[in-house]
Order: sequence, then C-alpha cells, then structure tokens
Amino acid sequence: MDTLFLPPMPAPGSRPVKVLFVCLGNICRSPAADGIMHSIVAEHGDEAMWEIDSAGTGNYHIGELPDHRMRIHARRRGIELTHRCRQVREADFDDFDLIVPMDGSNEQNLRRLAPTVEAEAKIVPMARFVDMSFRYDHIPDPYYSGAEGFELVLDLLQNGCENLYQIIKNHNQNA
Ligand code: 4NP
Repeated sequence: MDTLFLPPMPAPGSRPVKVLFVCLGNICRSPAADGIMHSIVAEHGDEAMWEIDSAGTGNYHIGELPDHRMRIHARRRGIELTHRCRQVREADFDDFDLIVPMDGSNEQNLRRLAPTVEAEAKIVPMARFVDMSFRYDHIPDPYYSGAEGFELVLDLLQNGCENLYQIIKNHNQNA
C-alpha cells in the first residue's frame, strides 16, 4: 500500500469514527463492506468507537435488503447483511469522517456531490486500503457476475476493511 492521506479524524477516544461505504446500488458491495466492518469492529470489542453505514449513489433499490446472492455469500462467512438501501445525500459529508467509494464512478459522483473542499477530502477509495490494489484498483461490481464475483468482492472487502481498521487505529494512536 502506498502512502495514504487521510482526512482529519476525531481526537482519540473523543467520539466514534464515522465511516460511510458507498457503491452504486447499495445492495451488493457497500452493504457487504458495512457488514464486514461491523464484524471486525465487534471482534475487537470496539463497537462504541465506530459508526458504520452504507449508501448508494443510485436510487433504484431504496428500502430493500441487500441482493440475495450477496446475503448468501456473506452468510457463509458468518456475516448477516440487514442494511436497508438508502441513497447518499449531501448531509453525509457533515455526518461522516470518511466516505469510501467502491469504484471510480462512485468516486466521481461523490466528488460532484461534495459541498466543500474539506468535504471532498473525506473521500478515500476502498481500493486504497486493499493490499492487492496494484491488481484491483477498484472493487468490481458483482451484479452481473457469477458466484466468483461475489466471493472476490468479499475477499477484497475483508482485506480492505481489516487494513482500514488498523490504519485508523494507528493513525489515532499517533495523533
Ligand atoms: P452495487 O451493485 O453497486 O455493488 O450495489 C449494483 C446493484 C444494482 C445495480 C447495479 C450495481 N443496478 O443496476 O440495479
């Protein structure tokens, strides 16, 4: 992983770090990232210091549970996805410290929505946290893929979310 520039984070222990994962539909990649991040934070007994959510740039599936294929693949890994789809909104830039798009298209849409330069600095692509980012410079949309597409997304997100957790913890310790 090359040098990662993070936006300002809350002072250690002052309040939870707030992370929003974003994809297009908010039924496959970002709710999976949301569920995986919740499970990592729970494994560390750190729930009180994290707020995690997800949203979509599109509005096709508002109110729906995640795609049944993603739910099945996640469940095999012990993760229940119960998020209800919502669309990203400008206020999310006030409410979250870090906004994590899954691909370049989501990133461009978020940059257009960001109300200020400081808000835009909160956008850090998911692939930046993934060890294999030389190979996967985005999290591929699994919607039209087979089972292997969903498994690949979960592998990339598990690795990326573990790194994100450690990077923020280390960042806070050094702050
Ligand atoms: P996601 O996948 O962005 O990872 O949730 C998609 C889900 C639905 C659609 C596209 C991508 N769609 O076109 O409905």
